[in-house]
Amino acid sequence: MGMAFGILYAFLLLVLSTSLCLRRRKRRSEDKYKVPPGSMGWPYVGETLQLYSEDPSVFFATRQKRYGEIFKTHVLGCPCVILASPEAARFVLVTQAHLFKPTYPRSKERMIGPWALFFHHGSYHMRLRKLVQGLLSPNALHGLVPDIERIVISMLESWVGLEARTFHAMEKLSFDVGVLTIFGDRLEERHKVELKKNYLIVDKGYNSFPMYLPGIPYHKAIVARKRLHGVLSEIMNERRKKGVRENDLLGCLIDSKDDSGEHLNDDQIADNIIGVLFAAQHTTASVMTWVLKFLHDEPKLLESVRAEQTAIQETNEFGSRPLTWAQTKSMSLTHKVILESLRMASVISFTFREAVADVEYKGYLIPKGWKVMPLFRNIHHNPDFFHEPKMFDPSRFEVAPKPNTFLPFGNGVHACPGNEMAKLEMLILIHHLVTKYRWETLGHQGEIEYCPFHVPKHGLPARLRRASGGCVARCKQSS
Ligand code: HEM
Repeated sequence: MGMAFGILYAFLLLVLSTSLCLRRRKRRSEDKYKVPPGSMGWPYVGETLQLYSEDPSVFFATRQKRYGEIFKTHVLGCPCVILASPEAARFVLVTQAHLFKPTYPRSKERMIGPWALFFHHGSYHMRLRKLVQGLLSPNALHGLVPDIERIVISMLESWVGLEARTFHAMEKLSFDVGVLTIFGDRLEERHKVELKKNYLIVDKGYNSFPMYLPGIPYHKAIVARKRLHGVLSEIMNERRKKGVRENDLLGCLIDSKDDSGEHLNDDQIADNIIGVLFAAQHTTASVMTWVLKFLHDEPKLLESVRAEQTAIQETNEFGSRPLTWAQTKSMSLTHKVILESLRMASVISFTFREAVADVEYKGYLIPKGWKVMPLFRNIHHNPDFFHEPKMFDPSRFEVAPKPNTFLPFGNGVHACPGNEMAKLEMLILIHHLVTKYRWETLGHQGEIEYCPFHVPKHGLPARLRRASGGCVARCKQSS
């Protein structure tokens, strides 16, 4: 059903955009350079049906084999140039980033809010990025360790004895950590409840067919998005009335002034808060789900990780003292497990940009208005850069990857400002998970679903139990 809607949507988009694209193409001189090789597929639909009917990685990999590391296609109503080499990704995202602007479907922009930083390029983007980056920098994260630890313990304890989808448990965890980062630890319970309720409806509608008809998930999401704005405005007004400077993202956004002394308005603040929550939640949750799967499937590695974490737990008097930032930095094997999970899972398989002018790359023309897609996953799974790429082998990170070949958090001006935060959350999760609990995965093994991030089938159903003697003092403290 979802796929049928997707295809219909693609078709409509395509009909609307094809005439525009053709007009643009006629205006351009293609005498000097040729567009890259590749197939534009069928009239109107391009190769959209192929992209949707097979695993996207296979779709791109077969074309890469046929045409090389730069090729063209036509999907979702847009002519695209696909780039599968580290140099090309760097060209688009770093060295010539000014020639490629971010591009998202209008329906998604409307849902998150048009002022969210990742839709922008230039001075507004830089201003917002600096604020978000400052708040998510290692220095700022030190103070969050005990609160993240409390949230992790509470999530794990609520899972004990139950069969649950790992991905759902991880979504709950990353949502709560996102709320902590944005609002600090003093958000009123009634606000938290309203935020969560409406966010979940928006989230459900985000990837649905964008039809504005009552009862349809997209319509419900747009209505919930308005309510979400209302809740956020109320929180902002209460903060402003109190006049106390809070050291969380909301505090930074409220206090920020531009060069002419102007504050951000409520729309700008709300869109960026929702944007950061969206950017943080499913990405981190899907990687954490993969970490659980990979560790479960590699018992020897799990034992080594447990040994590393138990040694830390022992210095903390068997968990009765909280973890410290310095301890999270000493988790060397666990850190490599996270890096390898990021590579293997490549939950953000690629990104989109749009050429703002005709651009020449290695003798090829990337015409103005065409979409450009650097393929992170294909780079991460290329045996030229990662020996035996299908093998889960954290030890490969004992040596730094070749430049621009490891891009789980993107690269350049739009690279992920939350990467340290995501890794910290995962380190704390793994510490508690392996020292105090045991888990078994249930059901289908090895199958993957796209929602739209890669996650194990059905979100990896699993059962969690306390290890004998596990979870003493600090579990009680959190409950
Ligand atoms: C494992 C978890 C995560 C992964 C794999 C991930 C990946 C990415 C990637 C690949 C981009 C760049 C997209 C592009 O260039 O088009 C990005 C951007 C972004 N991420 Fe993350 N992310 C993660 C977690 C987080 C967290 C925890 C936060 C915030 C707390 C966050 C906030 C953002 C924001 C705000 C942007 C937009 C930056 C900009 O446009 O300047 N992400 N992320």
